[in-house]
Amino acid sequence: MSIQKIITYPNPLLRKKNAKVTTFDDDLKKLVQDMKETMYDAPGIGLAANQIGVSKQVVLIDISEEEDEKKFMVLVNPVLTDGQGTVVDEEGCLSVIDYTAKVKRFQKIHVTAQDVEGNPVEFDAEDRFARIIQHEVDHIFGKLFIDRISALKRGLYKKKLAKILRNQT
Ligand code: NI
Repeated sequence: MSIQKIITYPNPLLRKKNAKVTTFDDDLKKLVQDMKETMYDAPGIGLAANQIGVSKQVVLIDISEEEDEKKFMVLVNPVLTDGQGTVVDEEGCLSVIDYTAKVKRFQKIHVTAQDVEGNPVEFDAEDRFARIIQHEVDHIFGKLFIDRISALKRGLYKKKLAKILRNQT
């Protein structure tokens, strides 16, 4: 178990559709542990496997209620089967450095997935919880929140990022 390096945009790994998980073994549990450590170290409130370089359909969602808690939910092969209403709110991402933007998401969703043992899970999520799930499910299909903003804003961010990256070297 260890903290992994978080891959950032424009790394092409973030653009690949992750593979479905078919084997629920110790490797999967190890991946979840690495994702947990990496997410809480960042710190972030959600993480998808491809953000640490593993192209598998696994996401972690922080569900802690207290500040020092590290309670999370693992969703393997998650699918949004229904979405209702829309909410616009600020979003950021560990893989999109130095940027947040307002993104439109469903207010309420229905999710089907599997847990780390391969058991089916199914539930409704609303508001902030639903937003994080939608953001993470986007990741495993190679999508980022900056794909959901205007081309103008995205262009401005690309320019800003180019400048940041230039100044790093
Ligand atoms: Ni993200």
